[in-house]
Amino acid sequence: MTIKQQLITNNSILKTQGIDKFFYQPTEFQVLKKISFDVKKGEFLSMVGKSGSGKSTLLYILSTMDTEYKGELFIDGQLMTGLTKDQLAEIRNQKIGFVFQFHYLLPEFSCLQNVMIPALKLGKLSEKEIEEKAYNKLEILGLKDQALKPASKLSGGQQQRVAIARSLINDPLIIMGDEPTGNLDSKNTNIVFDIFQELTKDFGQTIIAVTHDDDFARKSDRIIEMKDGEIIR
Ligand SMILES: Nc1ncnc2c1ncn2[C@@H]1O[C@H](COP(=O)(O)OP(=O)(O)OP(=O)(O)O)[C@@H](O)[C@H]1O
Ligand SMILES: [Mg+2]
Repeated sequence: MTIKQQLITNNSILKTQGIDKFFYQPTEFQVLKKISFDVKKGEFLSMVGKSGSGKSTLLYILSTMDTEYKGELFIDGQLMTGLTKDQLAEIRNQKIGFVFQFHYLLPEFSCLQNVMIPALKLGKLSEKEIEEKAYNKLEILGLKDQALKPASKLSGGQQQRVAIARSLINDPLIIMGDEPTGNLDSKNTNIVFDIFQELTKDFGQTIIAVTHDDDFARKSDRIIEMKDGEIIR
């Protein structure tokens, strides 16, 4: 069996094999050591570990944004390692959505416009179709009536939900979050958790979320714990 066939049989959506990563400034330092794991389609995965253990560095590699590493990364059965920046950007736009601790919405733009941006960038649908889709995503996030307000006029929790709607606009296979609830109170954290769970259970999307919130991690399908650049659990 080819590796691609194996990954499809295992229902694997993302897989890493022996990923090592070094930083060279100020001195040589191995930040990731032999990272090998497999994420299944529809899985809700949390990544935990002390500050400095390498979570964000790993997520950046998984997102295909960082290509300076040793080892291999597969997404949706396809080897990402060695592809060109342009090829990766295209795959990323289609297959991966991102949610960060700080949402990076454009404050003067409406929520609707913010949600539309990644689809306009991808350029596969007409503006009209994208607008319709953006409304639909905002509706899933309970924000349809806020669509035309400038993003800056929403509460923190609402803004984070707009950012999630934006991450969903291209119907990504995988949604990656770096502390997606890091900035939220417990009520809004629970709302975001429930949305993520719904996306995995009802839409078969896959979540990989770095979190410092033990409660959030415990409720997810699986936890990967990192320590000093290694997966210890
Ligand atoms: N560009 C860089 N150059 C050199 N060292 C870096 C760089 N980025 C991160 N590091 C170091 O790599 C290690 C892992 O950093 P990383 O940001 O991945 O940790 P983290 O687990 O996400 O931590 P946190 O929970 O605080 O966000 C840290 O020791 C950090 O100082
Ligand atoms: Mg981090």
